[in-house]
Amino acid sequence: MIHMVEKPRILIIYTSMSGNTEALARAIADGARHGQNVEVEIKRAGEVTPQDIARAAALAFGSPTYFSYMSGELKSLFDGSLPFKEHFEGKPAIAFGTGNGGQLKCIESIENILSYFGVRFVQKSDILSAGLAVQGAPDAGTKRLAAQAGKSLTEAGVRYVCEKAKQEQGIVIGEHTAGRDEKAMRGP
Ligand SMILES: Cc1cc2nc3c(=O)[nH]c(=O)nc-3n(C[C@H](O)[C@H](O)[C@H](O)COP(=O)(O)O)c2cc1C
Repeated sequence: MIHMVEKPRILIIYTSMSGNTEALARAIADGARHGQNVEVEIKRAGEVTPQDIARAAALAFGSPTYFSYMSGELKSLFDGSLPFKEHFEGKPAIAFGTGNGGQLKCIESIENILSYFGVRFVQKSDILSAGLAVQGAPDAGTKRLAAQAGKSLTEAGVRYVCEKAKQEQGIVIGEHTAGRDEKAMRGP
């Protein structure tokens, strides 16, 4: 039997009070959608439903640093997602954060929880991989690095969907047979 499935969805989740983390989320989203046959959605953590996570092919989670940790809003999403761990398992993911020097602590706190949820990290953030751990507002160079991370996230999301499709013979994605060729997911 042949099934039609939707375009891979890349979901970028963030919280932000003064706009720094939102700007980073938007830069990641720009890279994620650039030239790719995918749907990229940006949502505030408080608006994310379990169905959003379940439908996503790849996930990004970002927060400002508060007291060397992620925001309460993002932590609440994770707490509320505990009964839905399987929606995360095996999916490509990245964490991103902004702060005034302590942003790596924030990212580590997100990555710790994502490890528990069983995601596959596309890129982990450390002091050398600027673009995801950002001091203050992202500048143009930082946005370019963030966009590259977004692109890698999309590529990993497409691979994830293709792997899943290959497990079920005859699945067609758009006009292409995904099980035959990963390029089918990438569009023109
Ligand atoms: C209550 C509060 C606590 C903060 N705690 C930290 C902190 O522990 N470490 C740090 O590096 N920055 C800290 N910051 C700075 C913010 O993380 C930083 O300004 C961030 O970029 C804000 O993101 P936003 O513009 O997306 O809201 C704190 C800010 C506030 C308001």
